Amino acid sequence: MAVRVAAVGDVHMGADVLGRYRPALDELGECADVLLLAGDLTRHGTVDEAACVAQEFGGLDVPVVAVLGNHDYHSDEVAGVTKTLQEAGITILEGEGTTVETASGRIGVAGAKGFGGGFAGRCATAFGEPEMKAFVEHSEASAAKLAKALAELECDVRIALTHYAPVPDTLSGEPLEIYPFLGSYLLGEAIDAVRTQLAIHGHAHAGCERGMTPGGVRVRNVAHPVIRQAYSVFHLDEAC
Ligand SMILES: [Fe+2]
Ligand SMILES: [Fe+2]
Repeated sequence: MAVRVAAVGDVHMGADVLGRYRPALDELGECADVLLLAGDLTRHGTVDEAACVAQEFGGLDVPVVAVLGNHDYHSDEVAGVTKTLQEAGITILEGEGTTVETASGRIGVAGAKGFGGGFAGRCATAFGEPEMKAFVEHSEASAAKLAKALAELECDVRIALTHYAPVPDTLSGEPLEIYPFLGSYLLGEAIDAVRTQLAIHGHAHAGCERGMTPGGVRVRNVAHPVIRQAYSVFHLDEAC
């Protein structure tokens, strides 16, 4: 039997959209073992908006595992946002992993927000101004955290969860000019370093759903504007 993983990103909750996802979420236990949230849970990263996320995605029949996105950092309220989500039972990952036991096997999820920098052959490098070095070093640190968290998982099915994209495939539809701000090939390298069954990300609202890492790992952009449903469900066989 396969494990069943539901995922959505970029739900960008605010009080005006409360209830949008809830009818589908209330049926989630019938079709999935876990729900992954791929960042940009809020619009401006306020605790008030996080309370809306907690109301919408709290108290579900299945565990909810999330990473934050760039919008969730905007108001410098990350600690409060994280606390509010955790109090609703949502697991927030930033360079960590978690496992979910199911009748079909143990699902391992390693998560990190990720960052930009671009893709192999056209990527930013840590050269020149300190600001440029800081930008690239943040990408490198995030990818390293993801790689470590993936390697440390003890599971039957291993999943990488990020907000930023690990490959350019799923950015198709976005303007080429902003690709360096949508993801980093370093995340793809981290995913390929360990046997991973699925890589989930968001952030690319105008991108497309399907891609693959150079090592052959399925990548899925689950940004809500892309999947146009409350969540997508993936069925994965044991293969770790
Ligand atoms: Fe977004
Ligand atoms: Fe984003």
